[in-house]
Amino acid sequence: MPTSLSRRELLTATAGLASLSATQISSAQNGTIPSSSRELWAWVKTQPVLEQQIAYLDVATAGPTLRAAMAAEYRAREAQSLALATTTSGSHWATESARLATRFAAFLGCDADELLFTHGAGEALSLVALGLDLNAGDEVLTTSREHPSALTPWLVQARRRGIIVKQIDLPTPMTGPEQALGLFAGAVTDRTKVLAFSHVQYADGALLPVADLCQFARQRNIISVVDGAQAVGMLDFQLRDLGCDFYATCFHKWIGGSHGTGALFVRREMLDRIWPIEPRGLDASPPIFSPTQALGHEAAPATLHKLGNIVPKLWPALRGTESAIEFQQQVGRSKIEARVRELAIYARLRIQQLANIEILTPARPGLWAGILTLRSARHSGMDLATSLARGNRVYVRGIEWPDSTLGALRLSVHIFNTHDEVEKMLQGLDRALKI
Ligand SMILES: Cc1ncc(COP(=O)(O)O)c(C=O)c1O
Repeated sequence: MPTSLSRRELLTATAGLASLSATQISSAQNGTIPSSSRELWAWVKTQPVLEQQIAYLDVATAGPTLRAAMAAEYRAREAQSLALATTTSGSHWATESARLATRFAAFLGCDADELLFTHGAGEALSLVALGLDLNAGDEVLTTSREHPSALTPWLVQARRRGIIVKQIDLPTPMTGPEQALGLFAGAVTDRTKVLAFSHVQYADGALLPVADLCQFARQRNIISVVDGAQAVGMLDFQLRDLGCDFYATCFHKWIGGSHGTGALFVRREMLDRIWPIEPRGLDASPPIFSPTQALGHEAAPATLHKLGNIVPKLWPALRGTESAIEFQQQVGRSKIEARVRELAIYARLRIQQLANIEILTPARPGLWAGILTLRSARHSGMDLATSLARGNRVYVRGIEWPDSTLGALRLSVHIFNTHDEVEKMLQGLDRALKI
């Protein structure tokens, strides 16, 4: 079975796109990524499967899938079906699981035996909340801005086991990392067992000081659980530099991988602290009889082995996502972060010129990146989003906001977006605000 798209295949997977310019086609056929900035971003724009006439500024909700990822996923599904008779051996899947875990771990900056594949960030976070031994009265300290799929797994444990979920109210906009640190430090008690928070807040785009918060937690023997759904693919970082105990992410937002793929990082020392929810290959002691082995169980890397190796089921989708991380590496993660920041700063500077708009995203560089949230004193976020979609084919997200009936408007920019799209959004917003 082919295991990875060559650089040439990755590039020529774009060939079917009618709107490719001559330069874009020749870049793809030569097998080289354009080197000049102008050509590079024009080429990047053609890589996701996305209607080219719309301005999609909502990758924080769902990312478009890269054409190369779709091609790789399709080819893997076909190969899997064609090779059914020869791939039922556990050793085949153990080898492929180890290969994928090694590949993804190298990208994320951890070791292969610290990685579990999941269907997304929400599943990864649920596995942690369900799998930790927490008892009545134990406290989980989190924030008031977490995504429902990050918060509700703890709320279920509150009902089921009597744990206590405490939410810190983060300031809007946050003005410095020390604010978040101070709030967490002030709310910790000797019953606090878990600190759970997002790397990048999905509502206002604030970046939390992950490394400092994880270090703070470790010093107090508190487990850190980080939701990285909005960080991986947008920011250039390595997990090992953050020092978290658990880090959950998905690959269907900022990575441009197959929808329904994600991962959970489990720091090696934490593997003993978590119970598997869907064990496929847990060593039984004393041994029990079963007519078959779970596929991929033997010799899979440690976390996949203990928490359940999903690779045989999720393989085609993971192969698609593998080509998306290859794309990220070929473009360059630092270049991606810089481009995201450049577009977002441009959007912010333009939005600041509009009357009666309050920006809720922190202003200080380093405290935000690709997500920008604002609100109007007169218009609801939902109405503004609808008006932009209907009138301008610009897609952003209306969201709820605490203590406000009007809510807010969130936009997120990625490398396939352009300054022209930001302008289009601005003109539409300006018009909608005047109604
Ligand atoms: C911060 C955050 N966490 C978790 C999730 C859920 O991610 P998934 O769809 O991969 O389960 C989202 C989705 O929007 C999110 O924004």
